[in-house]
Amino acid sequence: MTLLDGRSLAEIIEKQIIAQTDLFRGQKVVPTLAVILVGEDPASCAYVNMKVKACERCGVVCVAKKLPQEITQEELLKIIKNFNDDFEIDGILVQLPLPKHIETKSVLEAIDPQKDVDGFHPFNIGRVFAGIDAFKPATPMGVMSLLENYRIPLKGKNVAIIGASNIVGKPLASLMLNAGATVSICHIMTKDVGFFTRNADIVCVGVGKPRLICADMVCEGSVVIDIGINRLENGKLVGDVDFEAVSKKAAFITPVPGGVGPMTIVSLLQNTLLATKKRKIENNKKV
Ligand code: GUN
Repeated sequence: MTLLDGRSLAEIIEKQIIAQTDLFRGQKVVPTLAVILVGEDPASCAYVNMKVKACERCGVVCVAKKLPQEITQEELLKIIKNFNDDFEIDGILVQLPLPKHIETKSVLEAIDPQKDVDGFHPFNIGRVFAGIDAFKPATPMGVMSLLENYRIPLKGKNVAIIGASNIVGKPLASLMLNAGATVSICHIMTKDVGFFTRNADIVCVGVGKPRLICADMVCEGSVVIDIGINRLENGKLVGDVDFEAVSKKAAFITPVPGGVGPMTIVSLLQNTLLATKKRKIENNKKV
């Protein structure tokens, strides 16, 4: 069994990002990411803090805007518009989930697609689906980088994805389909998830249920990608896969923590640099 070590790979990619931001600075270009957090959900706060720290390590300026839970949709849209209109801001990220009184769809659609480094705007979703140049959502992008770096081929492989969210499952399915895999997406209404996972060369799971994937659900020699993050009562962080048991059958498996998580963060930074390059270097004009 080979561990898919996202932490080490992310460190290597971070070094490449630092070299790139240094080059940009030489051209007086400063990559800048705006991060918007509404409310104080502990998990969202933790994710935003990780993103802010990664920006600091990599020479990306991070403008973090922490907003009260009660903010109105109108006020939030105004803040996004200001970031859209601010030439210095290359990327805009609104941490999800948003409070119930705010319509997520309207917020995501308000972000300038050229600054949509999360890849959640329908413009980018559509382009990912069509397999054309786009900002790809960070978690699916991180999974694809991990597979590519470990030389795990996708052409002609059977993939089972458990979890059909707009953030992870659906875009990951698009990327894998476009890479030549045969993809099944399982969700809450799927009758027999095991039927799909047992027939899969690659299993990707991200639903937030510890031990959802056990050893008898995967075939010998499979690749298992655990996108889940769950905090157990004893404080331990685990994914959705019974790692102990499944790692005895899998050929490749991601640990949690240290697998997909760090890859998600570096993918966001890679998207931010891509936005910087497109807007401030290739366009070379004020917008
Ligand atoms: N909430 C959970 N995952 C993500 C993510 O990748 N981006 C944003 N903006 N919010 C999230």
